[in-house]
Amino acid sequence: MYVCICARVRECEVRSAIQRGARCEDSVGDACGAGTGCGSCLDRIADLIDEEHPALATAAA
Ligand code: FES
Repeated sequence: MYVCICARVRECEVRSAIQRGARCEDSVGDACGAGTGCGSCLDRIADLIDEEHPALATAAA
């Protein structure tokens, strides 16, 4: 399933970027290109960051 239509990036690719160290939407974009177009997928990318790093979501709250 695509997370980012603009860059044709799948959810598994975004999760992989996060697991390799991306901690924010910008670093996910740098790693795989997701979120670098229209921006409509940024909320979904943020959700995936929260899912992969729940401690970061808690720290930011
Ligand atoms: S859908 Fe991701 S930047 Fe447009």
